[in-house]
Amino acid sequence: MDNRSTFATKLGVIAAAVGSAVGLGNIWRFPYELGQNGGGAFLIIYLLCVIVLGIPLIVAEFIIGRSSSSNVGGAFKKLAPGTHWNVIGYMSVLASFLILGFYAVTAGWTVEYLFQALKNGFAGRSPEELRDAFTSFSTTTYTPIIWLFIFLLANYFIIVGGVKNGIEKASNIMMPILFVLLIIFCIRSITLPGASEGLSFLFKPDFSKVNSSVLLRAMGQAFFSLSLGMGCLITYGSYFDRKTKLGKTAFTVASLDTLVAILAGIMIFPAVFSFGISPAAGPELVFVTVPNVFMQMTGGYIWSVLFFLLLTMAALTSTVSMFEVVTAFIHEEYNVSRKKATIWIISLTFILGTICSLSLGPWKEQTIFGLTIFDLFDYVSANILLPGGGLLISIYVGYRLDRTIMINELTNDHSFRIWYFKPLIFAIRYIAPVAIILIFLSGLGVI
Ligand code: PFF
Repeated sequence: MDNRSTFATKLGVIAAAVGSAVGLGNIWRFPYELGQNGGGAFLIIYLLCVIVLGIPLIVAEFIIGRSSSSNVGGAFKKLAPGTHWNVIGYMSVLASFLILGFYAVTAGWTVEYLFQALKNGFAGRSPEELRDAFTSFSTTTYTPIIWLFIFLLANYFIIVGGVKNGIEKASNIMMPILFVLLIIFCIRSITLPGASEGLSFLFKPDFSKVNSSVLLRAMGQAFFSLSLGMGCLITYGSYFDRKTKLGKTAFTVASLDTLVAILAGIMIFPAVFSFGISPAAGPELVFVTVPNVFMQMTGGYIWSVLFFLLLTMAALTSTVSMFEVVTAFIHEEYNVSRKKATIWIISLTFILGTICSLSLGPWKEQTIFGLTIFDLFDYVSANILLPGGGLLISIYVGYRLDRTIMINELTNDHSFRIWYFKPLIFAIRYIAPVAIILIFLSGLGVI
């Protein structure tokens, strides 16, 4: 590709990849999936998925991206010309849009909550009032759509401005602050009365709750949280320079992402039990419990402003990475300017987001397979498209990709040795495809 850019620094590589991985998936989706799917047992299955499937597949995506220096469609055209592997590209684009549809709506909610925090809108409200406020806000017709629009506008300026100076710099500053804040909130949460019940819900596994749907959802959550299976890491990998160590980067990204998810759990579940909210509450979990925690803290005002600011930023670095998948694809494969591509993609996301938002309120009765469109987009993307993409990627890298390309990528052209080649290949060739297929079949009720 003509003068393709790369990330500027080592820290920038980590920050961008972690910025993509850490987002609403960790702080909003992970706690409520865990709450609805068995608590501690879900956590253990989730961790297994991250280690056994997640890390090897992150490496696999990085290898495809950096060796081809192409977007998700172009990569397979280059590496496997004349084959159908570029179907992974089309699946990725579809998954990006489905995720963006509901994700951008949720990100819009975080902007509204930032605004509320600035107005000191949580002060003096009881847990019930905070819950009712969330329900009435998220089901109204216009307000969430206005926030969706504002959030998408922010994405537009970052993407058109270029990934390097905007997102890379912002991630470098914001991600460490988010981390520190989460730790402070965890400490407050575990010192609330009745907190231990929440901690045992999070950490004590009860395997009697595990069924095939829990397995499928834990795997889906791992893919979602690691930004895996839809070419996001192929695209970002294509911006890595030849010095970036792929194995080490994959390990760092997976570890930090998992740490943030666990911290979010420690922040949320003690508060959930302390305030008498149901752990299986669903998408409103964060938006109800977190303001409650702030109300119990000295300086609650400033904490809440900071928290929602950073959550919005975390969402932004993730949506930008999803947009980048499609923008790079359309820009490079169809010769459309970056700006034009971005405008089209953001407009389409606005339409999909509006549909998702309305499906929680005025269109609540219109369900497909018993799910609102918001939930359907979420379910299909996380539990079907991402693991499906991961399956194809593992088969491609495990059985089709030239071994020398793999070794060159993993060792940066033999500039250092690695100990993990065999276990990695084993995981990519055998463990990942077999596990994904088994979990799929049992989750879909076939076995
Ligand atoms: N990993 C992001 C999160 O946890 O919020 C969501 C995401 C980003 C999913 C990018 C997929 C993706 F390609």
